[in-house]
Amino acid sequence: MFKTILYPTDFSDNAGKSLDYLKELHNAGAEKIILLNVIHQRVLDTLETIHKAAYFQDARYHEDAEEAEHRLEVERKEKLAPVVAELEAVGFEVKIRIEKGYPFREILKVEKEEGVSAIVMGSHGRNNFIRARIGAVSEKVMRRSVTPVLLVKR
Ligand SMILES: Nc1ncnc2c1ncn2[C@@H]1O[C@H](COP(=O)(O)OP(=O)(O)O)[C@@H](O)[C@H]1O
Ligand SMILES: [Mg+2]
Repeated sequence: MFKTILYPTDFSDNAGKSLDYLKELHNAGAEKIILLNVIHQRVLDTLETIHKAAYFQDARYHEDAEEAEHRLEVERKEKLAPVVAELEAVGFEVKIRIEKGYPFREILKVEKEEGVSAIVMGSHGRNNFIRARIGAVSEKVMRRSVTPVLLVKR
């Protein structure tokens, strides 16, 4: 029933809690995990601003914004490596996707592209506002997804 599962993570402890549930789902017939991290548009905009400012000071910085973006992607992949190992250890096939933009949009895009059967994610993430009943990303995903969403509580 839940053959392929999308697991979006922002590397927060809240998202990390989903791992235990994912592992359980292997016993329930799940085979493949799409492991997704979205580099937030805000981060990309900030990078560009920093590098533009640096360029005005010194033209040698010209090429750096793209390089920095690439470094960031590599860094995110490295950060996902232990998660991949953990999931593979229980028998999952794992596919990594690093996307750029707004997390909820990218999550919904990957949901369709990969034809997943469910999404497992944290009810909260890095902000983890004490008074927030639910995070902004998880709320939008839950409202608009076509597949069932398992929100793992903090
Ligand atoms: N940049 C991101 N990339 C992938 N998944 C994300 C990203 N941001 C949030 N998520 C997913 O959404 C869940 C809820 O996060 P979010 O709604 O942003 O809560 P908060 O407001 O506490 O940060 C996270 O546990 C994670 O599963
Ligand atoms: Mg967040």
